[in-house]
Amino acid sequence: MSKTILITGASSGFGLLLATKLHQEGYKVIGTSRNIEKLKVPFKLLALDISDENSIKEFTNQLFETTNKLDVLINNAGYMHIGLAEETPIEQSKKQFDTNFWGTINLTNAIIPIFRKQKSGQIITVSSMMGLIGLPAKSIYTASKHALEGYFKSLRFELHQFNIKVSMLEPMWFKTNLGNHSSSSNEGINDYDLYRTATAAYIQKSIEDAEQPDVVVNKIRQILKAKQPMFRNPVGKMANMILFLNNHAYGMFESAIHKSVKNI
Ligand SMILES: NC(=O)c1ccc[n+]([C@@H]2O[C@H](COP(=O)([O-])OP(=O)(O)OC[C@H]3O[C@@H](n4cnc5c(N)ncnc54)[C@H](OP(=O)(O)O)[C@@H]3O)[C@@H](O)[C@H]2O)c1
Repeated sequence: MSKTILITGASSGFGLLLATKLHQEGYKVIGTSRNIEKLKVPFKLLALDISDENSIKEFTNQLFETTNKLDVLINNAGYMHIGLAEETPIEQSKKQFDTNFWGTINLTNAIIPIFRKQKSGQIITVSSMMGLIGLPAKSIYTASKHALEGYFKSLRFELHQFNIKVSMLEPMWFKTNLGNHSSSSNEGINDYDLYRTATAAYIQKSIEDAEQPDVVVNKIRQILKAKQPMFRNPVGKMANMILFLNNHAYGMFESAIHKSVKNI
């Protein structure tokens, strides 16, 4: 029997591509979006705003009407806030966490009882390379993804006894609508003027140089099929080299980033 897979944020980017591919391969796919009426997709689409607890409740009720079995939850929904740390108002920081961290946690907690009852399930959460390293002008996005990494690292132990597999995915830069959908800080502190411009150009270049997202879709398909999926799954050109520098030669890593930002 084909697996039933729930994918949050299936209206765009990784989520849309993955949901479409898995649907074509014969999986039963349930995707989510905050704006289901705007979209025509070949898979089942349900309304969900992960940052809204009422929306999660309504969604869960609807999910039970749609299916009596769920095999996989792919926590993909999220957005990126761009801005220098000191210039980011607390409201924008909280909003970033309401979606990327609390939204993901609340939805996961709504789904775990189904998996626990079944004594099987799989949770794959789309973190980011920014869940493992830090870069300028992305402090709050980075913090939200680091928080997810820590949370799910602990959760993996707790759910092992119920045969529920927990994995993260840490993509580098890929061509999706993440940049278009990002929010940004607008408080200006003059001392940062040059650095703000340089980091904005650095981020813009990263977006332009980004890889095609099918690599990420294939990585998720591998995790789905693995008997014992790894916890961490970095994906993208240079991912392993960056992690090596970050973990074993941090001075070199920092110098390389300072240089890249300066040279733009
Ligand atoms: N692209 C990259 O280079 C990259 C790298 C590392 C990690 N990531 C991560 O990959 C994931 C997917 O992003 P993407 O790159 O595919 O960007 P995207 O094209 O902007 O897609 C984001 C998806 O998230 C959904 N979403 C956003 N806020 C939501 C909320 N409050 N509730 C429910 N759904 C919400 C959006 O759906 P609706 O607007 O329809 O609700 C949309 O389908 C994100 O977690 C992102 O942090 C991306």
